[in-house]
Amino acid sequence: MIFVTGGAGFIGSNFVLDWVSAGAEDVLNLDKLTYAGNLENLRSLDANSRHSFVRGDIGDQALVESLLAKHRVRAVVNFAAESHVDRSIHSPGTFIDTNVVGTFRLLEAVRGYWSQLQGAERENFRFLHVSTDEVYGSLGPRDPAFTEENKYEPNSPYSASKAASDHLVRAYHHTYGLPVLTTNCSNNYGPYHFPEKLIPLMIVNALAGKPLPVYGDGQQIRDWLYVGDHCSAIRRVLEAGRLGETYNVGGWNEKPNLEIVHTVCALLDEMNPKRGGGSYREQITFVKDRPGHDRRYAIDARKIERELGWKPAETFETGIRKTVQWYLANGDWVQRVQSGAYRDWITQHYAQPA
Ligand code: NAD
Ligand code: DAU
Repeated sequence: MIFVTGGAGFIGSNFVLDWVSAGAEDVLNLDKLTYAGNLENLRSLDANSRHSFVRGDIGDQALVESLLAKHRVRAVVNFAAESHVDRSIHSPGTFIDTNVVGTFRLLEAVRGYWSQLQGAERENFRFLHVSTDEVYGSLGPRDPAFTEENKYEPNSPYSASKAASDHLVRAYHHTYGLPVLTTNCSNNYGPYHFPEKLIPLMIVNALAGKPLPVYGDGQQIRDWLYVGDHCSAIRRVLEAGRLGETYNVGGWNEKPNLEIVHTVCALLDEMNPKRGGGSYREQITFVKDRPGHDRRYAIDARKIERELGWKPAETFETGIRKTVQWYLANGDWVQRVQSGAYRDWITQHYAQPA
């Protein structure tokens, strides 16, 4: 079986659902269920014996060691992290606890387990660390896209904590020979995306008649990839990636934030026209910029394409349409994740004057 951490979050739950429907191996899912973890994402697996869930922390070394040994785990895929840049600016401590110290404890548990394995079990074992393009810092308008050779220049507490975890993973390969793989992916979007992040926040705010808060001038560029394509890239790297290597994953879809918001509004205007007429665009509000805001990310995905034959299945146009449709069809999910704690975050974060 494989051991997935953070499998109740946005990308992790999409990965678990895809894995169970596509593959033959069982999944053991360890998640702390922070505000971002939601077992409802996995409800369709409730009666499925191929998925087991344990609530716990990747930093609980004893727990992880016992789970790895009990289930004779074949591979670990590490999604567990604090993932929201704005939260890392307000409260960096939890990012250090989970992304740095938690990853270290997880690596220690995995090293202990792996060092006992022998023969084919040892040969076939893998530790795949899911990371981000943000570790490379910010690009100028004419800079080439990030390759795996770019130096690390993280700019936020979030990206610095992810960079630290990447370095630890690399060091465990170099020093102990742990069979690791790292993926550095661009911005994901799709079903089960927590509505604190740009695309789902815009959809849910638009539908609720609330302002659509665009930071600064809205000309910051991100490189968007449909979450299902990130999951297929991880599966492919796990299957055939070269040990100790990193693979950049991206959709060749660079777009300024304001264009993303306009696209979301246009799709909502088409699929769910406003009752009183007019466009959702009228709700766009420019707000105070994110401190230290990275201006541009872009991923050069040629290594994973060339070496592993991976390519995204969705274009931005098909992926964003599916995503808006999913949110329109899953208003109950949205309502349930907008708990008291969610409301507190929105009030605290967006109360700052422009
Ligand atoms: P998310 O915030 O939606 O989910 C994170 C999950 O990890 C949650 O279920 C949470 O409960 C769990 N978790 C947090 N701390 C934990 C701990 N100490 N122990 C166990 N579980 C814990 O995040 P996401 O967007 O799904 O991102 C998943 C991974 O992918 C992260 O490592 C992130 O850095 C990386 N990533 C995300 C994106 C993106 O666009 N969302 C892009 C590239 C890489
Ligand atoms: O690049 C990969 C990263 O993408 C992941 O590692 C992170 O986990 C993930 O959260 C994401 O980080 P971003 O900061 O790029 O995503 P976010 O959705 O928070 O913001 C996307 C862009 O939109 C960014 O330039 C900030 C802007 N933005 C965001 C919010 C929440 C706004 O203009 N208004 C908003 O209200």
